[in-house]
Amino acid sequence: MQRTSFSSRKKGCGHRYIYRYQDIWYIPTRIQNIVSFQKHFQAKDSDIIIASLPKSGTTWLKALTFAILNRKCFPPSQNNHPLLSSNPHELVPIFEYNHYVYNQIPDLSILPEPRLFSTHVPFHSLPDSITKSKCKIIYICRNPFDNFISFWLFVNKIVPPSLPKLSCEEAFERYSNGINECGPFWIHMLGYWRASKETQNKILFLRYEDLKGDINFYLKRVAEFIDCPFNSEEQSNGVIENIIELCSFEKLTELEVNKTGKFIQKFENKDFFRKGVVGDWVNHFSPWMIEKLSKVMEEKFGGSGLSF
Ligand code: A3P
Repeated sequence: MQRTSFSSRKKGCGHRYIYRYQDIWYIPTRIQNIVSFQKHFQAKDSDIIIASLPKSGTTWLKALTFAILNRKCFPPSQNNHPLLSSNPHELVPIFEYNHYVYNQIPDLSILPEPRLFSTHVPFHSLPDSITKSKCKIIYICRNPFDNFISFWLFVNKIVPPSLPKLSCEEAFERYSNGINECGPFWIHMLGYWRASKETQNKILFLRYEDLKGDINFYLKRVAEFIDCPFNSEEQSNGVIENIIELCSFEKLTELEVNKTGKFIQKFENKDFFRKGVVGDWVNHFSPWMIEKLSKVMEEKFGGSGLSF
């Protein structure tokens, strides 16, 4: 394991060091959790797993997938829908943040099927039982320009008040060199991108920008992919529109649970929502940053077919 220090910020995000495990950088406790997840998780063919790099639109995709999957017991227009009282991260827990923590080995076999999980682990580090079973993965990807801005501003929100904020330049150096939590971004994105091309019907690769552009189309795409397509009655009864409305940025941010609630005692739910737009990076990037990140993306993504 290779170790790097947050040199100019001794306790970055409360942790002095991040470590590289299977080519990806993490804080130490996360690695313990991932090892446990890799060792113990037994996938079922009916499982659905949402995968992403942090700050790519995970919260939104969780809300949408949960609402699609559970629409028979929880119609989206119902005023006691779980999404009205719980943050999407509570409803769709993350393996390495919620299940495989504190050296516990949870019995996930008792959960009702289909089980809905999520992870920030890259494709190459997923347990064999996920890659070898028929379970499905939905990956959400976001333009690295916006992904970086969202990430940097989020990190500064969760930094303890006693520690200095991370400057945009310093955060950018780390991100563009691939040395930030869950980075390098290109390894993460390309791993799922290539796997989605190689394995038919196993991975649905989505872009945040595409969802913003035509949510109706992609909602139906997700529903078909997880074998829950909308029938014509649902289509004419406005179920699709109701789910879109229920999971919209505007709706979720007005809910009390997302204004004042907390996720795993560490994160304020409100911090998962900021602007929810495409292209906010233009308000933060200076010319040298545009040049550098464009170059990195050209170098890493060139020839892969992945573009933004
Ligand atoms: P911004 O910081 O650019 O606003 P993640 O969920 O992976 O942590 O990603 C967070 C990003 O998704 C944030 O982007 C957040 O505002 C945006 N987001 C959260 N909920 C959303 C929703 N319902 N619709 C669209 N974007 C959403």
